[in-house]
Amino acid sequence: MLDSQHVVIFGGSSGIGLAAAVQARSLGAELTLVGRNRAKLNQAADSLGGARVVVADITDRAEVEAVFAGLERVDHLVVTAGTFNAGRVADCDPDVLLHALDERIAGPLYAIKAALPLFSNRGSIILTGGQLSDRPTGNGVAVISAAVRGVEALAGALAQELKPIRVNVVAPGFTDTPLFDVLGETSKAFLQQVAESLPVGRVGQAEEIGAAILFMMTNTYINGEVLHIDGGGRLI
Ligand SMILES: NC(=O)c1ccc[n+]([C@@H]2O[C@H](COP(=O)([O-])OP(=O)(O)OC[C@H]3O[C@@H](n4cnc5c(N)ncnc54)[C@H](OP(=O)(O)O)[C@@H]3O)[C@@H](O)[C@H]2O)c1
Repeated sequence: MLDSQHVVIFGGSSGIGLAAAVQARSLGAELTLVGRNRAKLNQAADSLGGARVVVADITDRAEVEAVFAGLERVDHLVVTAGTFNAGRVADCDPDVLLHALDERIAGPLYAIKAALPLFSNRGSIILTGGQLSDRPTGNGVAVISAAVRGVEALAGALAQELKPIRVNVVAPGFTDTPLFDVLGETSKAFLQQVAESLPVGRVGQAEEIGAAILFMMTNTYINGEVLHIDGGGRLI
């Protein structure tokens, strides 16, 4: 279904982005994986049986532009690059907190702008939002919540501005990925506690969010949508 289509995934070396890469490859896609760490990218490419890999930080415009140098065509651009850089406004330097906006708004904008001349008309863009858009609860999530809400607004506007390219957002709830490695030894206990609070009694798996990304890639009538995959987390 994605035979010889080129899918570029910022964040494709881990978690949700890697799960999307695996599923896109199984449908025949050619892949470019982008992240900051070459070893992680190479490991991901090996697990896929090969992929083009580019080291770039999505918050660095020149590095993002270099990702697209030499590419002939982009059919789908996926952005899952991001970290969980939470912090309370009272305790943190605003510049540190604003990195969430660099990752989720500025970075995707750099990537979209650079990819546009290469886009095929059947193409689509899939950005990553999150449950915090609707449920900005927890300690120190103010700026990251604003960022994911901003992603939804950005995508809706771009779905009109960039037509016929489709622009959609996947909005994951808590999903068991290396994102939570920053919590160290407490990450398992944290996710277990979250699981018990959710209507489905568990957190999500990267493959489940990856499947949503593939759905938005391959259903050519879905556009300007925010697809929530959160086990009902927005309802509690
Ligand atoms: N997991 C969840 O519960 C959850 C819930 C809601 C939203 N999200 C969002 O979903 C996205 C994917 O998360 P995940 O759970 O798949 O996390 P993950 O396993 O940590 O993967 C993040 C990916 O993004 C890359 N990355 C991070 N910062 C980057 C940067 N500045 N430039 C380029 N690449 C960067 C990472 O590679 P490098 O480190 O090598 O750069 C990695 O490939 C994130 O934006 C996250 O905030 C996740």
